[in-house]
Amino acid sequence: MPAPAHTRTDAPIRVLAVAGARPNFMKIAPLMHEFARRPSRFEPILVHTGQHYDSSMSDSFFRDLGIPEPDVNLGVGSGSHGEQTAQVLMKIERLLIERKPQLVLVVGDVNSTLAATLAAVKLNIPVAHVEAGLRSGDREMPEEINRILTDTVSHWLFTTEAAAETNLLREGVAADRIHFVGNVMIDTLLKHRERARKLDTLERLGLTPGKYALLTLHRPSNVDSPDRLRKLFDVFERLNTELPVVFPVHPRTANAIQRDLGGVQPNLKMTAPLGYLEFLRLMMDAQMVLTDSGGIQEETTALGVACLTLRDSTERPVTVSEGTNTLVGTDPAEIEKAIGKLRQAGPPEGRRPALWDGKAAMRIIDILERDLENF
Ligand code: UD1
Repeated sequence: MPAPAHTRTDAPIRVLAVAGARPNFMKIAPLMHEFARRPSRFEPILVHTGQHYDSSMSDSFFRDLGIPEPDVNLGVGSGSHGEQTAQVLMKIERLLIERKPQLVLVVGDVNSTLAATLAAVKLNIPVAHVEAGLRSGDREMPEEINRILTDTVSHWLFTTEAAAETNLLREGVAADRIHFVGNVMIDTLLKHRERARKLDTLERLGLTPGKYALLTLHRPSNVDSPDRLRKLFDVFERLNTELPVVFPVHPRTANAIQRDLGGVQPNLKMTAPLGYLEFLRLMMDAQMVLTDSGGIQEETTALGVACLTLRDSTERPVTVSEGTNTLVGTDPAEIEKAIGKLRQAGPPEGRRPALWDGKAAMRIIDILERDLENF
């Protein structure tokens, strides 16, 4: 795709940066901070789509991470995939026409990411996608569709690991659009690690360092089937008799427990969704993390904490090949076996992947600044 024509002026570049759902906020934070360091070059407009709207899923992240108040909140809220994507698409299109940014910056793979990208490219506004090229190979995952479509039409593709570049090249993306820059999510983790360490979260929950497991579960493939959900909870409840299992419950999962399990709460240490710093505090000293999240696979690798991923595939293979992640699948018997093995053998040795060094946002904005000079 040719770079869109654009007249050079000395005015700062107007960038519309989009975030919508919880895993976007820790990715957009370091980018906003980097823009703020270059006020003569960039004029960012931060848009919150409102895909996530509960205080515990949204506001608390802005507070914890010092993200500026969004300039605009589209208030899109929940809905089917079609409804949610369409709402963001319609509302962002209007905003783009009104504000005329020269660039749209999107992160991750949620519905808001795809919708903002589509709206922008149809108006000939170039898009930069941060965390491009990740592929699970599983097209039943809504995020996989969002990733493929977003990458196909974005102009700048910023990647976190080597596999992402391989995927993009295989899909026919021109090499000069791909930039291996590292991981903005890890920028945020490294920046806030020491602050998190000082929190009294463990004491408050009655936990001893190294003597608890931390569980998150929210993928439709795990929580939208009552039978699967019950069987998974059976496994976690058995583990909980030996090692306390802390379980901050995502709203989707809370709804599933209410709807499909008759509101019978699993016998685990359940909490409401936690803020960024509190969750980081819990990850740091967990004996193991059990999750179906994407980002947590990366965060545990950066922290060197054992992670068992309750999915059949991962779009983040470096967390397995170099990090501390093990892909254990979704069969409850296999998950139980993997837990037993980890309890016996201890955590796998891992190392922090290349360029996960806290400087990814800086590299991204350097590249954008350089390239936009020539637009
Ligand atoms: C979305 C992302 C997923 C990401 C996850 C992190 C897509 C396709 N999925 O999934 O990639 O890992 O966010 O959380 O974009 N809800 C609330 N309050 C909120 C937000 C949601 O109660 O603030 C409830 C609603 O019942 C909603 C459900 O959670 O219907 C699911 O929310 P939704 O944004 O559709 O998807 P997530 O499962 O959160």
